Amino acid sequence: TKLFAPDRKNSRGFDLTDPVILGKIFKDRAAFESKRWKVTSLLDKKPAGGDQEHSSNPTNPKDIVADVQNASETDVSGAIASATPWDATVTERAKVLNKAADLYEENYDEIFALLAREAGKTLADCDAELREAVDFLRFYAQQANANKLNPRGVFTCISPWNFPVAIFTGQISAALAAGNAVLAKPAEQTPTLAWYCVNLLHQAGVPKTALQLLIGKGSVVGAALTSAPSVSGICFTGSTATAQTIHRAMAGTMAPETPLIAETGGLNAMIVDSTALPEQAVRDIVASSFQSAGQRCSALRCLYVQDDVADTLLKMLYGAMDELRLGNPWDLSTDVGPVIDPQAQDKIVAHIENARADGRVLKQLNANNTGWFVPPTVISVNGIADMKEEIFGPVLHVARYKSDQLDQIISDINATGYGLTFGLHTRIDDRVQHIVDAIHAGNIYVNRNQIGAIVGSQPFGGHGMSGTGPKAGGPLYLGRFAKNANLNPTV
Ligand code: NAD
Ligand code: ALA
Repeated sequence: TKLFAPDRKNSRGFDLTDPVILGKIFKDRAAFESKRWKVTSLLDKKPAGGDQEHSSNPTNPKDIVADVQNASETDVSGAIASATPWDATVTERAKVLNKAADLYEENYDEIFALLAREAGKTLADCDAELREAVDFLRFYAQQANANKLNPRGVFTCISPWNFPVAIFTGQISAALAAGNAVLAKPAEQTPTLAWYCVNLLHQAGVPKTALQLLIGKGSVVGAALTSAPSVSGICFTGSTATAQTIHRAMAGTMAPETPLIAETGGLNAMIVDSTALPEQAVRDIVASSFQSAGQRCSALRCLYVQDDVADTLLKMLYGAMDELRLGNPWDLSTDVGPVIDPQAQDKIVAHIENARADGRVLKQLNANNTGWFVPPTVISVNGIADMKEEIFGPVLHVARYKSDQLDQIISDINATGYGLTFGLHTRIDDRVQHIVDAIHAGNIYVNRNQIGAIVGSQPFGGHGMSGTGPKAGGPLYLGRFAKNANLNPTV
């Protein structure tokens, strides 16, 4: 049996040590940094337009990235009425999606610049994000070609700001590959990136009736797109609370068979036992907690360290944190960029200050930057049960445990009801097996960091309050976008 057909390769990405690649990004840096974009909805006809907003740069909030016009009520109802499933053979659709992937790669310099400026992504994160978007386009094109899929009709796709290119593109390309029409609603914080991507998809050949972009607030445009009876499926990535709101809206107006594919939040844990290689564990804890300023659904939130090694490991961790540089994501030396907006900053800082009042802040870096920065912070907790909600930023909670408490810890982790990622550092094979069998999490990472996924070989998605499945980037995903899908599991 042939697993994963070899006629598709994942994107090679962009080597940030290559002067030619870097040159293209930095040559036009001044122009990229000063351009003021004009962003509107992209519909099959000219949008009437509603209220006007700005999108700004989280590193330098005075820098206006774009003048943004939200969709009006008429724009939303018009798009819902005119959305028409893509009338093309699967071979033609796949060709167009592959062409879009090429266009994304060709325009990497502008996409990186916008990712850094509108979403605060470091250049290393820009590379990972663009690669994932390109992989989704090519993977779903290949999957559609290899399977018999009957489209459901019109899909609403609603995405978050933290992967404004990869997740935005992944949702849309899956729905389109299966032959549906898409009404896409990006996050309020990153409209320019969404607008840029949809322009590339249209340029590649996706018809405007099959892919329409509606800019606006979740509570207005999102709410309208998730309660329209003619919508035949919803693909959502974002917080668990919003997924629950959408579920309620759908239940009120849509046919019970309408699928909700939701990828949501997590309270992700890692266990490091006394046999773990400390240097490796520290490197992976830092990446899992602080890369992308902790703004990944997969990020490590609660670290359990075995008591016998905790003092040494935490000392090493604090030393490694001292080497992290906060700064402008454009600078290659930056490890940690800003958080997305002042509301996010306020919420994370309030959480840290509560812990400080109880004397539980163990380590914090300094942040003198002007933008929405939060310094990487470590807080002590008794265990994951102390944590009531996902804190979406560079904050690591640490608990110590004794070896006879391992099964209690596993049960506490499962009792959160979330089940997105889990990390384990140990060199005892039997323990790996025991814990992997017992933990409820969609993606489990052993002796490595616990962020990231690879389209086609490492699908991503959670259980319980972390998502409905099927996993994005996996062989079962497209089936949910189709009726009576006859999936070929060997492709
Ligand atoms: P969010 O839930 O606030 O917003 C996500 C999207 O939903 C936005 O486009 C928003 O406008 C829209 N929305 C808000 N209210 C709505 C409503 N009533 N009806 C319809 N749409 C509405 O989430 P966020 O802050 O943008 O993203 C961060 C969250 O996303 C975190 O919880 C993170 O864990 C999660 N996330 C999960 C994954 C995953 O794969 N599991 C990946 C990335 C992010
Ligand atoms: N796959 C993404 C990550 O790992 C969501 O952070």
